[in-house]
Amino acid sequence: MTGFTEDTSAETVLARLSECPDGRLSEVMSSVIRHLHAMVKEVEPTQEEWMTAIRFLTEVGQMCDERRQEWILLSDILGVSMLIDAINNRKPAMATPSTVLGPFHVEGAPELPLGANISRTDKGEPLLVSGRVLDEAGRAIAGAELDIWQTSPDGFYDVQQPDEQPAMNLRGRFRTDKDGVFHFRSIKPCSYPIPTDGPVGKLLTGMGRHPYRPAHIHFIISADGYESVTTHLFVEGDEYLDSDAVFGVKDALIVPFVLHPADDGAEAYYTVENDFRLCTAS
Ligand code: BEZ
Ligand code: FE
Repeated sequence: MTGFTEDTSAETVLARLSECPDGRLSEVMSSVIRHLHAMVKEVEPTQEEWMTAIRFLTEVGQMCDERRQEWILLSDILGVSMLIDAINNRKPAMATPSTVLGPFHVEGAPELPLGANISRTDKGEPLLVSGRVLDEAGRAIAGAELDIWQTSPDGFYDVQQPDEQPAMNLRGRFRTDKDGVFHFRSIKPCSYPIPTDGPVGKLLTGMGRHPYRPAHIHFIISADGYESVTTHLFVEGDEYLDSDAVFGVKDALIVPFVLHPADDGAEAYYTVENDFRLCTAS
């Protein structure tokens, strides 16, 4: 078969996969080719529109460096990151659900004693976070690690503001005690926009979408013999819970942050309490 026609375009390209020595690559590329040709046939882009798409993808790549991953951001706003997460983290209903890792996790956050404050500035409304890490049967998991990170009260992670925030601000790693209990101090998180200064931001605007994520604290919880979970706690009542720019919200992760008003000279503070449940490693 030599002729390339509009009708048989996908089949012509697929035929060249017959010699592919890697079965999984062949499966993946076959799907990419079929879906891409079907999309182009549905949309019928002009040459100019196709060049706009090529320029967009070029800019996405050019925006990436060690600190910025625009491809992941693109996958996030298209819901693909959450779909990959769902496919790879099918869990029983009792288990704490997972959600997006996001681009701002940093390896090697400081190990802190229970009760320590992860905020290294005096900004923000004080918050006490507490709870337990439990197994499938509700038994305490002692020595589980909680790796935690969140934004400043202005909505920026420390790595986004290296000249304004101390390194490792609002990051820490804690271990549960013998009863599976953890507790630490922080500040109340706020909703914030994902980075909009690149091509993904322009695409969001073009689609008439806002860039905001509802206020949350990130957690990676791990313990020997258990599946680790990458998750968040979201602030109940946040205005963006129904329209998270990256589709990361799950009902079980929305929790009340309770305000304790100022009293007798003591400043106002918030508390949030949540138990996390891990599945046994398979
Ligand atoms: C975050 O929550 O840190 C995040 C997740 C996805 C994209 C951008 C930020
Ligand atoms: Fe975040």
